[in-house]
Amino acid sequence: MGFLPVVLPLQNRRCLVVGGGRIALQKVEALESAGASIELVAPEVLPELAARPGVRVRLEPFREEHLEGAALVIAATDDPEVNHRVHEAAVRRGMLVNVVDDPPHCNFIFPSVLRRGDLTIAVSTGGASPALARLLREELEGGFAPEFDQIAAESGRLRREAREGEPDAGRRRALSESVAALARAFRAAPPADWRERLQAMAADARKRCESSDPSDLSDSSDPSDRRRLGSLTLVGAGPGDPELLTLAGARALAEADVVIYDRLVHPALLAHAPRARHVLMGKEPGERHACAQARINESIVWEASQGRRVVRLKGGDPLIFGRGGEELALAREHGIACRVIPGVTAALGAAAASGIPLTRRDVASSVAFVTGCGAGHGTGGAQLDADADAVDWAALAHAVDTIVIYMGAARIQRIARVLVEAGRPADQAAAVIRNATLADQEVQCFTLGELSRDDLGRSSALQSPSVVVIGDVVALSLILRDAIAAHHPAVIVPR
Ligand SMILES: C[S@@+](CC[C@H](N)C(=O)[O-])C[C@H]1O[C@@H](n2cnc3c(N)ncnc32)[C@H](O)[C@@H]1O
Repeated sequence: MGFLPVVLPLQNRRCLVVGGGRIALQKVEALESAGASIELVAPEVLPELAARPGVRVRLEPFREEHLEGAALVIAATDDPEVNHRVHEAAVRRGMLVNVVDDPPHCNFIFPSVLRRGDLTIAVSTGGASPALARLLREELEGGFAPEFDQIAAESGRLRREAREGEPDAGRRRALSESVAALARAFRAAPPADWRERLQAMAADARKRCESSDPSDLSDSSDPSDRRRLGSLTLVGAGPGDPELLTLAGARALAEADVVIYDRLVHPALLAHAPRARHVLMGKEPGERHACAQARINESIVWEASQGRRVVRLKGGDPLIFGRGGEELALAREHGIACRVIPGVTAALGAAAASGIPLTRRDVASSVAFVTGCGAGHGTGGAQLDADADAVDWAALAHAVDTIVIYMGAARIQRIARVLVEAGRPADQAAAVIRNATLADQEVQCFTLGELSRDDLGRSSALQSPSVVVIGDVVALSLILRDAIAAHHPAVIVPR
């Protein structure tokens, strides 16, 4: 059946609901939100319905006369015979009628509705799958903050104010579009001071309109003004499996204008950002970290200053060994609105992949995430020795029960040696987990003593990206237990 979506003004119009149960209650609520004057007919009704102040309840069976003067009727009883009588009588009178959950007996259907004040978004599958329509509506819901009704109302007020006394139609249109764009910019995640910012931006738009050509309004040439609209969102992409992105991360991607992503990010995640430009910005082979970060910083500032919503998509969590802190500081320095959406960090992905509980009441009460890189790593190398330790391994040996080392595979022999020398048991288990949560994830088990040996070699698990988990908890893994007992270190753990 073909459907034409229309919006019915029902304020104070008489609408009839036949039925007194849960379904009728849902329909009454829908009609109430449209301001309809509701009459309900049923021999028995739920107490919630009977107590509703705006609903006129008639405790009697349906009769055709009840249809008199109604704009529409909804049959919501659990008796198909009554529902069909309502349908037939309504059709005879040329009325709009909906028999709940019975599409052949409806000449209008209810879409799934998202409301934010005067903004109404309706989703319909033409009656084929109301559940799908509901899911899609729920997905849309995240794109509109609860306070969007106030934002829309305020932008409407600002628009009227800005247009007042403006005789030129082109300028009036430009002002309207400019104010609407401001409201859209704050749609999903408005800052706390959204009202002041909207007002300031609308005042600027008006000033520019007075002094210049209206076409300037859509692309302001004042860089500080454009920067106010641009934003930076650091999104944690998770350790590898694209399913581990958060809902908030997916939403931010869907709204992005530009996505600047790292090498370790799974390419499937970019499908969440169909309308954005995708820019890969990892470290080039042979390039120093400091140079790579400078290129990324330049891009962030440039894109945001053009008024674009920039998503910086980073492997794992942005604030764990991800330079997220530096990018936050950069945004602050340049006056760019910024927020962080966390992600599943590699240590947690690796723990799940290998079945290792990072803590357990009776075995491990503390866990540390540490970098195995040298102290000079990523600084440009000018003052710090790249081979010097960034972590006091001897102190750490006693300080925590479980140690998870990121970026440590290349220096693992030295690290293991220092840990054992400092008193960590040489027979304590360690697991090296590579490509955690991905289809080709790989886990290899060692003892600390084995890891410290010169003839360790370069097993495949020791290639990047991998994390090393050290502690008594490793032996608790049900996945790894047999391999450890059999002194058979290589385990491929299927995802
Ligand atoms: C620059 S750090 C980024 C860490 C990231 N921000 C996080 O929270 O997971 C990169 C290191 O994370 C670890 N890593 C990232 N993804 C991994 C994975 N799927 N499996 C194992 N280790 C991973 C490796 O130690 C890799 O060298």
